[in-house]
Amino acid sequence: MDNIKICVIGLGYVGLPLARLFSTKYPTIGFDMNQSRVDDLNAGYDVTLEVSNDLLKNAIDNYGFRCTTDIDEIRDCNFYVVAVPTPVDNNNRSDLKPLWGASETVGKVIKPGDIVVYESTVYPGVTEEECLPVIERVSGLKFNEDFFAGYSPERINPGDKLHTVEKIKKVTSGSTPEIADVIDKVYNSVLINGTHKAPSIKVAEASKIIENSQRDVNIAFMNELAKIFNAMGIDTKDVIEAASSKWNFIKLSPGLVGGHCISVDPYYLIQKAQVYGVLPRIMSAARRLNDGMGAYVANQTIKLMNKKGILVKDAKILILGITFKENCPDIRNTKVVDIYYTLAEYTSNITIFDLWADIAHVKEEYGIDIVKDDLNKFAGKYDVVIHAVAHKDFEVMDIRSLLADPKNGVVYDVKSTLNKNQIDGRL
Ligand SMILES: NC(=O)c1ccc[n+]([C@@H]2O[C@H](COP(=O)([O-])OP(=O)(O)OC[C@H]3O[C@@H](n4cnc5c(N)ncnc54)[C@H](O)[C@@H]3O)[C@@H](O)[C@H]2O)c1
Repeated sequence: MDNIKICVIGLGYVGLPLARLFSTKYPTIGFDMNQSRVDDLNAGYDVTLEVSNDLLKNAIDNYGFRCTTDIDEIRDCNFYVVAVPTPVDNNNRSDLKPLWGASETVGKVIKPGDIVVYESTVYPGVTEEECLPVIERVSGLKFNEDFFAGYSPERINPGDKLHTVEKIKKVTSGSTPEIADVIDKVYNSVLINGTHKAPSIKVAEASKIIENSQRDVNIAFMNELAKIFNAMGIDTKDVIEAASSKWNFIKLSPGLVGGHCISVDPYYLIQKAQVYGVLPRIMSAARRLNDGMGAYVANQTIKLMNKKGILVKDAKILILGITFKENCPDIRNTKVVDIYYTLAEYTSNITIFDLWADIAHVKEEYGIDIVKDDLNKFAGKYDVVIHAVAHKDFEVMDIRSLLADPKNGVVYDVKSTLNKNQIDGRL
């Protein structure tokens, strides 16, 4: 395929870094339905902090990268990449509306000979059974005769400045062997560590969903162990350190499992498995267990307060961090809110401090007011401090100095990254 012109549809945590990278090699335009996101990006600012202002401005000034909400501006592209969200609804069923919407957009602009590649995380079959029929219907073109498709899942990890998009080895696939080669070549041309070409679109889809489901199940096992060892009065982190001295022990830590990926993707596979009469018991149990960890942390903290004679109804509680993981502003499906909501049944004196999260966004999503300030101003004010997210800005703080009474207050370390002698309990 000559003269490739790329359009990336959906400019979030996944789409923007990829579009920026493609722009260094091919004419590339970003398309998103959110006008304010597009305005920010064209001004050189990425609110997700995945692409630095310098890198974004460099792409705009030196490679002609730009973003749009106008469908007419993407008509002359011939290689469409779709990276829109794949959430679940309130019943944890797949919500394919963004994918259908993006496929309609592609259907309106796709021409004979063009290629569309899906990046969104889905259960095996979504690309061919849910997306491509929409493109066929809207465009009037025939899949694999007039236009072609592929699937290449993203492995980006929000906030991770080590495994950036160009360094991640990527799985690719295509709807014919020739198209798989073209797609593989395009991705290979911008990736430092190359690609793994999967034999089919369904294999590529399945590979992504098991990467995240495997993590969910393994973390659930660690969370189960943490519950057992906490009940027995044994420190889980010490146990994991000891077990990790064996060559084939998989070292993971217990914790809250939130975000747009690991806490969501397994539901897609669970749903599809049931269509085939398979009830995935391990994945379902892992999801239930991980979803209950916020309430568990709150209840563990209440037990520690009780031991120290702190009355929950009068206690002043500080929760450090609300994002779903450290050093990034992403609050999607954060389980810190479960800690908050559980404690809020007993006391209204709860403050959440987070320099990374957006105050208005948190209010809109969860109805919670958070604070951003100089953390030193909060010193000496609290009965309880919960270290919920290990943002780097908390490392410099003497955590016990936040307590009104450092001897009789409670510090609970969800992430188990604080010094053991600074805390009263941890997962
Ligand atoms: N965030 C991650 O770490 C990560 C990692 C790997 C894979 N994924 C997968 O990648 C996909 C995208 O995730 P994300 O985190 O980038 O999402 P996101 O919410 O950060 O961004 C999605 C963007 O798509 C836009 N959008 C939604 N519907 C649209 C439509 N119909 N047309 C045009 N634009 C539309 C939104 O406005 C938004 O800017 C998901 O399937 C996710 O599971 C995410």
